[in-house]
Amino acid sequence: MKTLAVIGLQFGDEGKGKIVDYIARYFDIVARYQGGANAGHTVKIGDSIYKFHLIPSGILNHKISVLGNGMVIDPLELQDEINMLKGFNPKKYLKISERAHVVMPYHKELDRNIEELKGSEKVGTTGMGIGPAYEDKYARIGIRIIDLLDKDLLKKKIEIALRIRGRYLNSQYDPVKLAEEYHKLGLNFKKNIIDTSDYINRSLKSGKTILFEGAQGTHLDVDFGMYPYVTSSNTSAAGILTGIGTKPCHVRKIIGVMKAYTTRVGEGPFPTELRNDIGNKILTKGNEYGTTTGRPRRVGWLDLVLVKYAIDLSGVSEIAISKIDILSGMDEVKVAHAYKINGKTTKNLPVKIEDLQKAEPVYKTFKGWEYPTNGKKNIPDEMMKYLNFIEKYTETRISIISLGAKREDTVLLKRI
Ligand code: IMP
Ligand code: MG
Repeated sequence: MKTLAVIGLQFGDEGKGKIVDYIARYFDIVARYQGGANAGHTVKIGDSIYKFHLIPSGILNHKISVLGNGMVIDPLELQDEINMLKGFNPKKYLKISERAHVVMPYHKELDRNIEELKGSEKVGTTGMGIGPAYEDKYARIGIRIIDLLDKDLLKKKIEIALRIRGRYLNSQYDPVKLAEEYHKLGLNFKKNIIDTSDYINRSLKSGKTILFEGAQGTHLDVDFGMYPYVTSSNTSAAGILTGIGTKPCHVRKIIGVMKAYTTRVGEGPFPTELRNDIGNKILTKGNEYGTTTGRPRRVGWLDLVLVKYAIDLSGVSEIAISKIDILSGMDEVKVAHAYKINGKTTKNLPVKIEDLQKAEPVYKTFKGWEYPTNGKKNIPDEMMKYLNFIEKYTETRISIISLGAKREDTVLLKRI
């Protein structure tokens, strides 16, 4: 297999980082293609914890790590992450697309100001400036990574962006100072800035293998997610082509990562949400707090209507399921397999947010299980029934399951 993509099937935080950390050993290169420092992956190795926002977690396996052109990169965050990874010699492994867009300080202020203007209709963004950075890209007033290397050009571009965005900003930004600061940051990783599309295509030609690492989840996709409660990039497999710059035939095998239940941060519909003791129990046990913002995540039962939609959209051929251990010790475990909307039962995901908000989940109930059982790490029968139901409903096999936070708790069920 020359390439493999890992994408999220829910609202992000499915455990993609951990799965990538687990399978990166089989690949030469790990590449991200969308999003920015809104993403958050936590990887635990032994007693060490690494929090990633921009750099693919594959770098922990000493793999070439690519930040693709479809990303929006905050150079301050990038610098922090490079510092965190000092022991792993990140500058040796990092390749940054010259075409990727830069998140500037005014994007972060715009992110906050726009949310405030939306009032009760706010999205609940991570505040990392993601939306406004992508807006500037499409408005053709964005700053690209390559611009950081030319101070005068950078100043000119910042002036234009501020002229247009200024009316939504309260703070004063000095283009000269900003250009100086960001030029300096750019020079710090000048040697890592390349044409990543060309690099990837040449690598594939020479027989190298590549893992495409998605950020966020399918239901946050700007085209296919629960718009407007989405992020500003294509989080589904569709994002790989534009965010990496490779041939469609190079995106063939896709692993979809799902959590054994559902979580979501920020606003937006969530049919299976549990606003009760069960939800709180899962929140605490699963340590469901955002890696980027620290916000408690909203928690609910597994929703297979959402998962199936995501699988069919991207052509997912294998499922990796995470955090199933967290559901152990419950009296019963439920899974939504349809919705009731205005008295009608449907397995289709409605496009209208108002319909989704009305959707009542139709559940199948499973008996709870204990894991580990008497200290033994065999999969209990009831858990197996749960997994079998997921496979049958989604018509997709589960090839990886993660039964705990550590690298050693991830199990390859079938050969991918
Ligand atoms: P933004 O990407 O910061 O603009 O936020 C848009 C929506 O996506 C909000 O609901 C965020 O909470 C959500 N979001 C963005 N990144 C992630 C992520 O990595 N995991 C989970 N939710 C995310
Ligand atoms: Mg996350």
